[in-house]
Amino acid sequence: MCGIVGYVGERKAAPILLSGLSKLEYRGYDSAGIAVYEKDRLQVIKTKGRLKALSDMIDGGKNMSSTMGIGHTRWATHGEPNDINSHPHLSQSSEIAVVHNGIIENYISLKEFLVEKGVKFLSETDTEVIAQLIEYNYRGDIVEAVMETLKDLKGSYALGVISRHNPEMFIAARKDSPLIIGAGKNENFIASDIPAILEYTRDIYILEDKEVAVLTKDSIKIYNEYGQMVNKKIFHVDWDVDAAEKGGFEHFMMKEIFEEPKVVKDTFNSRINGDLLKQDSLSFTAEQLNKIEKIFIVACGTAYHAGIVGKYLIEDLSGIPVETDVASEFRYRNPIINEKCLTIIISQSGETIDTLFALREAKSRGSKILSIVNVVGSSIARESDSVIYTLAGPEIAVASTKAYNTQLAALYTIALDFANKKNRINSEELKEKINTLKEIPGQIEKVLEKREGIQKFAANHYNAKSVFFIGRGLDYALAMEGSLKLKEISYIHSEAYAGGELKHGTIALIEKGTLVLCSVTQDALIEKMVSNIREVKSRGAVVMAITQEKNKLVESVADTVINIPDISSMFAPLTAATVMQLFAYYMSVLKGCDVDKPRNLAKSVTVE
Ligand code: F6R
Repeated sequence: MCGIVGYVGERKAAPILLSGLSKLEYRGYDSAGIAVYEKDRLQVIKTKGRLKALSDMIDGGKNMSSTMGIGHTRWATHGEPNDINSHPHLSQSSEIAVVHNGIIENYISLKEFLVEKGVKFLSETDTEVIAQLIEYNYRGDIVEAVMETLKDLKGSYALGVISRHNPEMFIAARKDSPLIIGAGKNENFIASDIPAILEYTRDIYILEDKEVAVLTKDSIKIYNEYGQMVNKKIFHVDWDVDAAEKGGFEHFMMKEIFEEPKVVKDTFNSRINGDLLKQDSLSFTAEQLNKIEKIFIVACGTAYHAGIVGKYLIEDLSGIPVETDVASEFRYRNPIINEKCLTIIISQSGETIDTLFALREAKSRGSKILSIVNVVGSSIARESDSVIYTLAGPEIAVASTKAYNTQLAALYTIALDFANKKNRINSEELKEKINTLKEIPGQIEKVLEKREGIQKFAANHYNAKSVFFIGRGLDYALAMEGSLKLKEISYIHSEAYAGGELKHGTIALIEKGTLVLCSVTQDALIEKMVSNIREVKSRGAVVMAITQEKNKLVESVADTVINIPDISSMFAPLTAATVMQLFAYYMSVLKGCDVDKPRNLAKSVTVE
């Protein structure tokens, strides 16, 4: 999971490559490099560390005159993050340079083959094999050499290739890793993601699996795996450039949390018309729905946690049994799934490889696929039978926040739609619930206004060594997400437990001063949770509770209470989630952690 940028045109390439890579650092940031055609040869500059180190090495690239090049920001998979293993990788004669995102599964056998032919390798990476193999296959036509090489690669790749033989062009290819092409005037681009080139063009081609593109400054030719030319439609991006920038906030994460009222509203608006649910080509008919015996919700990480909320909602409202699965487990556990099942796939990026492969597994067993995806045109969106787009816009901070809230928003509308079609709620109840949904953006705004209380609590506890999150029902699903958010950005150990499960072992870890965050928003479970709070308090825990204003009983037992507005239990997760995210954010800032780019993590996990 790395970031790739390529440029060919009339301007200096190096500053454009650096600027593009700076928008892709969320994809990986343990090393960075560029290759440009300079003074009749390929010049590669690369280094371990953040992009800034590379930029400093070449003084922002302003003294490099080349108008063609490729760049890369890396998240290591093969070989430790060091200068040599950084991309771009050169072939032995230094005539071909390659940047790569993905994993070449058969690189060892390819390497052995090339070594036997006398090829000398410098790095431990799978990517160097690609550069060497292209050179081995080169007989005077670089496009043919790339095409020939791709036939031998097993695994996933997004590639940018340049050659000293053809300094006026570069080649791009993809399989199971994202890559887009930007069409400009007298200049063209490739990138792993749209924000990297948004400053220069809004006209995009989305490369499909096994397609190869040849770009010069005034032409883009795209071929399928058989070498036939493909005609593609331009996808015009209408996001604000600002949407991909920090917009005055100190961190992308905070900016994105503040966008929640808007993006949740946008997502609802795309699914709701007045006080009715929109019925369009995505909607299931009652007849189709009646044939579905079971629903699987499959995703990873935060998206998986959204899926657990979805399970509670869909089962409760529609009565259809729902099973949730972590995608990396689902694909290997021989799930009992067939044409009578519906699989809901959730993914912000739409490129998470475990989730994509789980989708393919479910599809191959006959299940219909409905996906909830943020990135338009992503692999998961393209391979699904129907897609509900979350309208969160680009999410840059590694920790997912606004995308999670929009995933929940989409799940509420799905659950209500299914309940309606299964005649489990009447039209009055449906209207009432839809009207409650419409109030949620305003309620998230109120939570944001209360951020100081959360910040104050964090200020007193950011040295905590371990934090427990507990809740029951929907609050348990929320506790899992709160716990993940805290650990990934503040590096504090934390665990989520169902309130009633704590006493079956984990309570042994509660001692004087242990921090316990309790989500207490489910009316029917408040008294039970109050008992759980008493259990941990009597063992010395410090308790922060999140609850509706009306729940005075909770105030009487917790040390600190963060109130969310009074909202019925079913809809509370959408506002309580924002409290959890703010808490994790402040803990991370106070500890001095790199909020937007936590260690060991990358935004889009396109490797298994
Ligand atoms: C955590 C986080 C990850 C992602 C997970 C799935 O904040 O962002 O846990 O949720 O890697 O990613 P997507 O949704 O892109 O499939």
